[in-house]
Amino acid sequence: MDAKALKIEAARAALGYVEDGMRLGIGTGSTAEEFVRLLAVRVEKGLKVIGVSTSERTEALCRELGVPMSTLDETPELDLTIDGADEIDPELSLIKGGGGALLREKIVAFASARMIVIADKSKVVKHLGAFALPIEVNRFGLKATMEEIRRESESLGLSGPLVLRIKDGHPFVTDGGHLIVDASFGRIPDTRALSRALHDVPGVVEHGLFIGLADLAIVAGSNGIETLHP
Ligand code: 5RP
Repeated sequence: MDAKALKIEAARAALGYVEDGMRLGIGTGSTAEEFVRLLAVRVEKGLKVIGVSTSERTEALCRELGVPMSTLDETPELDLTIDGADEIDPELSLIKGGGGALLREKIVAFASARMIVIADKSKVVKHLGAFALPIEVNRFGLKATMEEIRRESESLGLSGPLVLRIKDGHPFVTDGGHLIVDASFGRIPDTRALSRALHDVPGVVEHGLFIGLADLAIVAGSNGIETLHP
């Protein structure tokens, strides 16, 4: 099976956790998009849900496919969020933000009673950090913010390139109007310490470490579906 087929399988399995009447957080990325496509088919057949999207991109797809949508302001408490991830460790701590939607993804996940992560097996790792950690930063004072991120991370023994994310020759701009710095720290031994340190840096809006948020990961591999618990 290729990666797309595995993503579809994980998304299909996640659909089994969606119940009539649920308020659903809907993630961003290619795996979350497969979930939206399958969800839309169920909605067409009569499933009643209301979605809150984690990005403009997901919002547009949901609306195009006829999934009823709300906003987090209208619907501030959600039953379940289903989203992808860039890395998943054994405690179900995650790195997210490869698609640049980490801020809304984290806000929506926090507002949800449960979060299910869907992914192909390549996303499962022993330790987080091989995937560069996305850090969303304010545009103002970018260099100073990056310098402070470097100092804070070095104080935790972490080093490696900090790279401003570029798309189509221009800095990538998030839905919130911010920039993304991708931090190639390598293995992150203490994710909580790094999370705290990054939040201490003025100019850091949010980072892509999701700790203690995922309740379940549905992982598709060549041998079928595995469900992982923290
Ligand atoms: C977007 C994300 C995505 O969930 C993550 O990048 C995984 O994407 P994909 O399903 O395309 O591999 O965090 O900000």
